[in-house]
Amino acid sequence: LKKRKTIENIKQKKNPIICLTAYTKPIAQIVDDFADIILVGDSVGPVLYGYKTTREVSIDIMINHGKAVVSSTNKAFIVIDMPFGTYENSKETAFNNAKKIIDETGANAIKLEGGGKKIAETVKYLVSKNILVVGHLGGLPQSIKEGESFKIYGRTDKEKRQINKNLTLLEDAGVSAIVIESTIGSLAKQISEKSKIPTIGIGASRFCSGQILVTEDIIGLSNFDAKFLKKFCDLNKIIRNAVKLFADDVRKKKYPQTFHEYK
Ligand code: KIV
Repeated sequence: LKKRKTIENIKQKKNPIICLTAYTKPIAQIVDDFADIILVGDSVGPVLYGYKTTREVSIDIMINHGKAVVSSTNKAFIVIDMPFGTYENSKETAFNNAKKIIDETGANAIKLEGGGKKIAETVKYLVSKNILVVGHLGGLPQSIKEGESFKIYGRTDKEKRQINKNLTLLEDAGVSAIVIESTIGSLAKQISEKSKIPTIGIGASRFCSGQILVTEDIIGLSNFDAKFLKKFCDLNKIIRNAVKLFADDVRKKKYPQTFHEYK
């Protein structure tokens, strides 16, 4: 049995840091053999529940999927997303919710989205209470309301200044690592070079310290597509074919056969 990775192991890693999402036991068990970090992302809402945005995800959903992932893995460092509405309003509420997530799941860290002074103060408070925090800058899924689409971050000077300022605020507040989402390559390069903590990119170029993608996206189980995405297999097609074969067999009375029968 290998020991679970720590944030220190991950920070010291010379090679790119490998991160993927997992929400369920079968996916988590596979990902655990290859990833440094597993994120139980609130993308679980759109990917597994068919929600229009991540804003509909509840803390109970995150805890249930967090439990499934932690209990079926033993190598990767596990991060759980704090859902929309559970950390923005006060640092005390953020702490109570973060502690509930960590205590009930056994995960190693939580992730929250955004920058600014208020979020940085909350991060500082959580860190002072021994909660490891991963930040998230650039494109922020929880800011996207139903019907709105994703935008690429960092094309204006204002956005460049803002991400630089937020990176410093979050670093000083004590985040262990930071997800950079949907950000132009030159900005991702610049902030990754200056950052004292690992940057984990999603749609944020090859210049980040690591990469994260949604596992269902890379195996072709979701219908999501984007310029930054690489699909490594088409599970949709494979499952569809298996389901069709089952239906054909039952229809033609080729399944079940005598040897499937209990005597
Ligand atoms: O919820 C999620 O899966 C995420 C990743 C896409 C970074 O936040």
